[in-house]
Amino acid sequence: MSDSAQKQGDAFENLLHEERRFPPTDEFAANAVAQPSLYEEASSQGSEFWAAQARNLLTWDTDFTQTLDWSDAPFAKWFVGGKVNAAYNALDRHVAAGLGDRVAIHFEGEPGDTRTITYAELTEEVKKASNAFESLGVAKGDRVAVYLPMIPEAVITMLACARIGAVHSVVFGGFSAEALRSRIDDAEAKLVVTSDGTYRRGKPSALKPAVDGALGREGHTVSSVVVVKRNGEPVEWTEGRDLWWHDVVDSASPEHTAEAHDSEHPLFILYTSGTTGKPKGILHTTGGYLTQTAFTHKNTFDLRPETDVFWCTADIGWVTGHSYVTYAPLINGATQLMYEGTPDTPHQGRWWELVEKYKVSILYTAPTAIRTFMKWGRDIPQKFDLSSIRVLGSVGEPINPEAWMWYREVIGGSKAPIVDTWWQTETGAHMIAPMPGVTATKPGSAQVAVPGISIDVVDELGESVPNGSGGYLVIREPWPAMLRGIWGDPERFKETYWSRFDNMYFAGDGAKKDEDGDIWLLGRVDDVMNISGHRLSTTEIESALVSHPSVAEAAVVGAADETTGEAVVAFVILRGSAKDDDDIVTTLRNHVGKEIGPIAKPRNILVVPELPKTRSGKIMRRLLKDVAEGREAGDSSTLADNTVMQQIAASLRK
Ligand code: WTA
Repeated sequence: MSDSAQKQGDAFENLLHEERRFPPTDEFAANAVAQPSLYEEASSQGSEFWAAQARNLLTWDTDFTQTLDWSDAPFAKWFVGGKVNAAYNALDRHVAAGLGDRVAIHFEGEPGDTRTITYAELTEEVKKASNAFESLGVAKGDRVAVYLPMIPEAVITMLACARIGAVHSVVFGGFSAEALRSRIDDAEAKLVVTSDGTYRRGKPSALKPAVDGALGREGHTVSSVVVVKRNGEPVEWTEGRDLWWHDVVDSASPEHTAEAHDSEHPLFILYTSGTTGKPKGILHTTGGYLTQTAFTHKNTFDLRPETDVFWCTADIGWVTGHSYVTYAPLINGATQLMYEGTPDTPHQGRWWELVEKYKVSILYTAPTAIRTFMKWGRDIPQKFDLSSIRVLGSVGEPINPEAWMWYREVIGGSKAPIVDTWWQTETGAHMIAPMPGVTATKPGSAQVAVPGISIDVVDELGESVPNGSGGYLVIREPWPAMLRGIWGDPERFKETYWSRFDNMYFAGDGAKKDEDGDIWLLGRVDDVMNISGHRLSTTEIESALVSHPSVAEAAVVGAADETTGEAVVAFVILRGSAKDDDDIVTTLRNHVGKEIGPIAKPRNILVVPELPKTRSGKIMRRLLKDVAEGREAGDSSTLADNTVMQQIAASLRK
């Protein structure tokens, strides 16, 4: 077992056994969307369960003839022969059903400006954007890079791409020009959609300069850049390449007929950090992805589209924003809130003010946000009327029982069920989650597989572990929203997820089954870190550090952090003259910001004389993690030079 898995296992032994149970109220259970029968149907029907969901949740232009083709495993095909258009399902069909006046998006900008967009209006905007993109030469199968803040145009752009069969690749606005360029190059994007900027903490914040930076060097594939005017700040302009959104989209025709695409037509690429320096372009396709995102959104959140106001706080730059902002809520005809800014602008009660104002009934956020609110104090949310909330969701990292209880009591009024949802960019949709009207929830555990999903925890040899034991989280059967591969790298797809265990998908997470068989997630067992619910790779940050001329060697670890879950801590060995540079730490932090993005800047950079390595030259991150977390370093007997840890300790005392 790897160092970190071993340690996680040990840590788990010390976890308190959780005795608290929160069953749904009788009333909630009786009226719940997901009833116990859903589990029975799923287990008795096998993959046909998903065929029923696909036909029930989506409107197919051409019905499929085969539910699952797994003959070329691990490359799956779901709903073979079916034809479907994602945007038609998210928009046109609701308008055709007479729901055009229903609000699709309540948008609130950070400065307080608002927009209310109905399904009819959103449909028209997407049709115009589709025409505009087509007029710029974007055709089915072409890739479009999206580098936008949380504004409605982000959703409009993604749906317009889906409508015309172009493949969107959204790059989180917190990534740098360099990171954006490498993603544009990997996907060979033809068009970039961006904005002048956004607002952050009460001030305009720029985005377009990163696009200009990314495209500043020759050799890219981009022919046009469409720019949304959001904050009105001045921007550089490249004639012949840059176009204002309001020029090309507003004047486009509002008529556009959606062509149905093959169920397996690529819908999007989303880059995520893996264990190597190069981010992976995770590829999702249409029919299966839409089915499982819509299914989970409806059942996990107990959705009532006529009355609920759903708020997923994730940015569209992450998979949560793709699945539970852009796609599932609209496929399900729900009304949602979209907020552009930070939670503490202009005051620390902004989120709760929004919940009160829009009567948010389902709130979906990350533990790191919850822990931040805990730190700010319960009196802040308590000033607002949060009585509209009836379901709470958590995603992105393990939620500690203390934060879970606070979320329940302070935000959920001790009555709203909490659904802790485990999933990944790769899985596309929820995989482990309680059903709010069925499961008696347990603080800190994601508990049970979603109906129709086959989850297990296995040991080193791939044997299922008994209740009360820990190991590796795996997925035993293909699932509709599974990634279809890594863009341009089928071998890496097999190697990363399917080579660790035979015929099982290896998620990269450690997990444990408790006495009841409920699953507890224990964090990553590989070199992936989880900072505020954002996935970052230690290797990627190490590569960024050693690309600086002052750095000879670097090792990065994720150290436990009370608020962000983990924090980036870097150990660096400097080259010659850099050792006398007092500002070297600031320089290196900014360098990482430039190479990857501000989110990757290390919390601490420790300058050390040596790094602990095994005789085969592997850095023992476990020992560095001990140092980063302020512990006595553990067993260092396998080090090539076992005085290294003393040298490090001595250098840090200085
Ligand atoms: C972690 C985010 C514990 C996990 C949707 C996974 C979680 C990685 C949970 C995927 C959860 C996500 N409990 N851990 N409820 N949800 N994770 O791709 O380590 O950004 O492998 O997808 O986040 O991160 P990603």
